[in-house]
Amino acid sequence: MVDAGIPTAKYAQFSDAASAKAYVEANGAPIVIKADGLAAGKGVTVAATVGEALAAIEACFSGQFGDAGQTMVIEECLMGQEASILAITDGHTIRPLLPAQDHKRIGEGDTGENTGGMGVYAPAPIVTPALLEKVQKQVLEPAIAELKRRNISYCGILYAGLMITPAGEAKVIEFNCRFGDPETQAIMPLLNTPLDAILTACIEGQLASLPPLDWNPGTCACVVTASGGYPGSYKRGIEMTGIPEAEANGAVVFHAGTQVKQAKLLTDGGRVLGVCGIGETFDRAFAQSYAAVEKINYEGKYYRRDIGYQVRSAQSLAETLDKKPNS
Ligand code: GLY
Repeated sequence: MVDAGIPTAKYAQFSDAASAKAYVEANGAPIVIKADGLAAGKGVTVAATVGEALAAIEACFSGQFGDAGQTMVIEECLMGQEASILAITDGHTIRPLLPAQDHKRIGEGDTGENTGGMGVYAPAPIVTPALLEKVQKQVLEPAIAELKRRNISYCGILYAGLMITPAGEAKVIEFNCRFGDPETQAIMPLLNTPLDAILTACIEGQLASLPPLDWNPGTCACVVTASGGYPGSYKRGIEMTGIPEAEANGAVVFHAGTQVKQAKLLTDGGRVLGVCGIGETFDRAFAQSYAAVEKINYEGKYYRRDIGYQVRSAQSLAETLDKKPNS
């Protein structure tokens, strides 16, 4: 990112705990501690105090993240709202999909540990058309240009995880070379252009000649139901019921951590389902999604009742917050 001139947080990289701790003590908190590698969405600590940051450094070097904990990145803590831009590129043309806003923390009010994502909505109004244009010019195009400069031919999904600062600037928190989960669950139901036409154009290097993507003008809300205990330890193999009933109201239920055994549907992961509602307004989309969530039963089912608090009316939020969080 630095080489490409992409706006991002100030950072430093460490391979031993003593230097990492000295850096934290010199820079203070809040500060972000990241295991450098894949850690199932759990390798990031947004430390509010120096003590929390030091504990996260200890934890990272204790081996709990395997290879991902051999080195760490310590970053400036960016303030603002997060947004995800998933773009498709054939290495020349870059077509962003609808912007989405994920909710990374396990607890309501954006509290508690980071997760892979507890719910999402699209299109995220915080990413205005003007901001999306800026992201195209300042983030996506420079990223692909830098890859080309390094003789890397990149074709597929480029996912930019952004922090939208209070001043309306987009800074990159992370890139992923994959679709987002659960962002994709909220974006795909709104896509009218056949996905295979887009992917074929991408593979064939013909994205420039693909007509503009056709989107449903409405909104999509995705609420993740998790296993009790996630993102810590949780049970697997718990029988689930109610999915046909949940989908009967027009909701779409995406399976994440499930399996079928002896003709029974069982939980099989931390994040179990992505339950999506589609509506002309966010209130309608969330009403459909939460109504469907309530129809689904398994022991320990956990979900956040405040997904989309940024875009829902006070009445819509009150309706879900009045219900018990666990079934
Ligand atoms: N939802 C975050 C991710 O897919 O990385």
